Amino acid sequence: MKAIAQSVYGPADVLSLRSVASPEAGPGSVVVSVRAAGVDPGVWINMTGQPYAARAAFGLRRPKVAVRGRALAGVVSAVGPGVTSFAPGDEVYGTTGSGSYAEFAAVPVKLLARKPASLSFAQAAAVPISAVTALAGVRDVAAVKPGQRVMVIGAAGGIGAYAVQIAVALGAVVTGVCGRGKADLVRSLGAVDVIDYTSAEVDRDGAVYDAVIDTAGCRPLSLLRRAVVPAGIVVLAGGGHDAGGLLGGYTRQLRAPFVSMSTGPRVRGVVGRERSESLDEVTTLIEAGKVKPVIDRVYPLAEAPDAIRYLAQGHPAGKVVVTI
Ligand SMILES: NC(=O)c1ccc[n+]([C@@H]2O[C@H](COP(=O)([O-])OP(=O)(O)OC[C@H]3O[C@@H](n4cnc5c(N)ncnc54)[C@H](OP(=O)(O)O)[C@@H]3O)[C@@H](O)[C@H]2O)c1
Repeated sequence: MKAIAQSVYGPADVLSLRSVASPEAGPGSVVVSVRAAGVDPGVWINMTGQPYAARAAFGLRRPKVAVRGRALAGVVSAVGPGVTSFAPGDEVYGTTGSGSYAEFAAVPVKLLARKPASLSFAQAAAVPISAVTALAGVRDVAAVKPGQRVMVIGAAGGIGAYAVQIAVALGAVVTGVCGRGKADLVRSLGAVDVIDYTSAEVDRDGAVYDAVIDTAGCRPLSLLRRAVVPAGIVVLAGGGHDAGGLLGGYTRQLRAPFVSMSTGPRVRGVVGRERSESLDEVTTLIEAGKVKPVIDRVYPLAEAPDAIRYLAQGHPAGKVVVTI
């Protein structure tokens, strides 16, 4: 089959369209004929092997898995031993650890769910990682309640566009923080107020938010805490574009428990659980019309390296998708 693969860590130039062996459906897994695959910052981490701590999981000297991409949507083409929940022909979405920028992908059924019927494959591929992380951050970690004031930093981005919609669905009053030219998009997702971070900082009004969901990953914790009421919470979704050293921007997550010991707002990291159950919860929100994917750009498989280059610039308006 054709796939976008790499042999060494590096920039997007290390990727190429190659012929590789098609996957087989092992126990508890299915093979999906991939129709579309999502692009998210995790793909860049897998590709570059940076921050270096990521190599402990993905391969010390070179990537253990050659094919890139994780989120996907497609049609089940084969089921492995013991699989009863899916059958060939089922339209599905989810994540895989063995590469989704490919004609076929092996996916454990615990990471797979039925595709929302109202979404195209390209829209569905934009959901699994970002929406699940947004749901975990807004509902589970921040425990947002009706009437609360929530700020989403990076409100037009992959996770942020979902976080705004999920917070609104939970009854929150949302302020979105985004760069120039994205205010209309963020308001269309339900935010009542928008801060253009190029002209004002997130603490411009003093502490007024019950929760801040930070997906941009580039502000000091002290600044984020100043925007939150003393009983409130700062939720950290990412490490921004600092990929240097062992942990890159993720040192803030490590410091979060210690910072939270001092008086004032708590700081917590969030990790999306990309399981079937989480996807089913997101599907419910999508089918209820409360959440919709925002697609910025769609690239054909051969141009997946350009899709990653575009995302790495750090300013997508929603999600970037590769179609197969
Ligand atoms: N915890 C988890 O389980 C998990 C899962 C997936 C991803 N992540 C991490 O979460 C982070 C965000 O992921 P994503 O998919 O949302 O990335 P993304 O799609 O690239 O979005 C990042 C957003 O950050 C905004 N931004 C950039 N500079 C900013 C600044 N100075 N101030 C405010 N906003 C700024 C950009 O908005 P503008 O265009 O408006 O500048 C962009 O929309 C990444 O670090 C990723 O690795 C974590």
